Amino acid sequence: MKKQLMDKFAKVYGTTEGAEFYFSPGRVNLIGEHTDYNGGHVFPCALTIGTYAVARKNNDGVMRMYSINFEKFGVCTVPASNFVYNKKDNWCNYPKGVMWAFEQKGYHITSGLDMLFFGNIPNGSGLSSSASIEVATGVILKETFGFDVDMIQISLISQLAENQFNGVNCGIMDQFAIAMGKKDHAIFLDTADLSYEYAPIHLDHAKIVIACSNKKRGLADSKYNERRSECETALAQLQTVVDIKTLGELTEEQFEEVKHVITNPVQRKRAKHAVYENQRTIKAVEALRNNDIALFGKLMNASHVSLRDDYEVTGIELDTLVEAAWEQEGVIGSRMTGAGFGGCTVSIVENDKIDAFIENTGKIYKDKIGYAADFYVVEIGDGTHKVTK
Ligand code: GLA
Repeated sequence: MKKQLMDKFAKVYGTTEGAEFYFSPGRVNLIGEHTDYNGGHVFPCALTIGTYAVARKNNDGVMRMYSINFEKFGVCTVPASNFVYNKKDNWCNYPKGVMWAFEQKGYHITSGLDMLFFGNIPNGSGLSSSASIEVATGVILKETFGFDVDMIQISLISQLAENQFNGVNCGIMDQFAIAMGKKDHAIFLDTADLSYEYAPIHLDHAKIVIACSNKKRGLADSKYNERRSECETALAQLQTVVDIKTLGELTEEQFEEVKHVITNPVQRKRAKHAVYENQRTIKAVEALRNNDIALFGKLMNASHVSLRDDYEVTGIELDTLVEAAWEQEGVIGSRMTGAGFGGCTVSIVENDKIDAFIENTGKIYKDKIGYAADFYVVEIGDGTHKVTK
């Protein structure tokens, strides 16, 4: 991969002199969905698929960005002193947003860069291809300009870029998982204070299988922001009777006692999901610690039901994939993962049943939806880093 991308870099930019090679993963969330902007817990892991990048300083005062995934856009060129969102720059708004966010935080970018990206995460699949590019850009800036930032700060700067430059009010989960990923571990992150623990994922008899619905995510961003504000309104009403800063502070029992103050029944359901999903995530990590993978799977299934019925972010494509998965032999758990409204599901499937799982679930999906899903048996990898070898 390195050689191919270096050769391509030389074609696009003349030489590879001074160029360094980077890898930034995608992520999958095992459980804890739509909890990260509600002060709850999440349990994501970084993948071995992701974004490769080649970058070096130039002396021209311009940022040049090229993606093999978006060749038709050619080289996007912007002044290295003025980072402004521009719809026509398409994917380049992700790296540009991170450059803008570094400047906002007082890290001054002193020269231009020549950059090339190639991602093997399916675009728009909900495996965080955009956050992967953002954190890659953050690490490139740190390495190239010697900025004194750690990986958690890079994840926060990348989130700022997504929120304020690209206008998606996302939580911290994706950027954190990508920056802080660790091979064969998931990250149990408390988004209230960013405390975290690595939990080893030793699935001796099973693997993580991702199914991509291939549904275009369409209105996902505006629906995402809408869910977020529904939770905020529910929280404000709860705050008139309980002293909490986030929904993540409530147990299920505490929520049941006070939920009546949320006047809008839809907003009450949204808040219920946020509270219950957070508690499910805590229980799921406990189950894993006790080697009770069957219970972990049941909690994954319950997470999907809640996202379908209370949070209403699944849709027929994700429901079809998950409900088909539940019927298959050897499936320990299956749920949608990421923001929803399209994107992917994550399932834990026993090794010797994976082929049948892919065939049967794939067939049920294609027969009902009319087009195929793609399946990936994935491995958990490290967070974003410079590749030295
Ligand atoms: C997207 C966001 C995350 C998180 C998930 C839902 O991936 O970027 O911050 O909110 O949706 O859990």
